[in-house]
Amino acid sequence: AAAPSRRRGAFIVFEGLDRSGKSTQVQRLVDALNARGVQTKGARFPDRTLSTGKMIDSYLSQKADLDDRAIHLLFSANRWERASQILEDLRNGVTVVCDRYAFSGIAFSAIKGLSWNWCRAPDVGLPQPDLVLFLRVSPEVAQQRGGFGQERYETSEVQAKVEKAFTKLGQSVGKDVWTEIDADKGVDEVHEEIVRRVEQALGSEALDGEVKKLWE
Ligand code: TMP
Ligand code: MG
Repeated sequence: AAAPSRRRGAFIVFEGLDRSGKSTQVQRLVDALNARGVQTKGARFPDRTLSTGKMIDSYLSQKADLDDRAIHLLFSANRWERASQILEDLRNGVTVVCDRYAFSGIAFSAIKGLSWNWCRAPDVGLPQPDLVLFLRVSPEVAQQRGGFGQERYETSEVQAKVEKAFTKLGQSVGKDVWTEIDADKGVDEVHEEIVRRVEQALGSEALDGEVKKLWE
């Protein structure tokens, strides 16, 4: 086992469209890091097990309709419900790998016409990721991986708009944090690329300091 270290854990976020392979890659990364002695936990948003998550689930499965602003705030509140746990894990030296975060929050709401500043505001101050891995998948490959599901937003029209919003978000976040991964490649090749990028992040001196606050 690795020697005990006073460094904090890394906060690694995956973002991407449907069928980009996020959930598979999150699991692969969590397993790979734990196997090499880097204590790591997975997380995901929306977290449908939380109280806000139940309402979000009803909305996504089209059992309930909600005002665009109300659902946006619920997604943000869902993150705040978990934020202190994430912070505690990071401070205890545990690396956290998260499937979607505030970037999905902005992308999916902004395409409905809500302003970027309004969308960003409720997430200001959340733990800031050390690394965002954006899995970019082409529409052709996404199509080959199977049709869309039954949930809200699972249409090619919405996905195309969300892709544009993600691209704009990446430009506003900065290359040191936001990294694009070509997710058209095979699962193993994508995993290896991710591990290379994560190794750099784990070696960063940023982990000797406090967790930063998002957009603050
Ligand atoms: P999932 O498929 O990863 O469980 O995500 C469910 C949907 O919720 C997906 O279409 C993206 C969307 N979403 C938002 O609209 N806002 C958010 O803040 C998050 C985290 C996800
Ligand atoms: Mg989904």
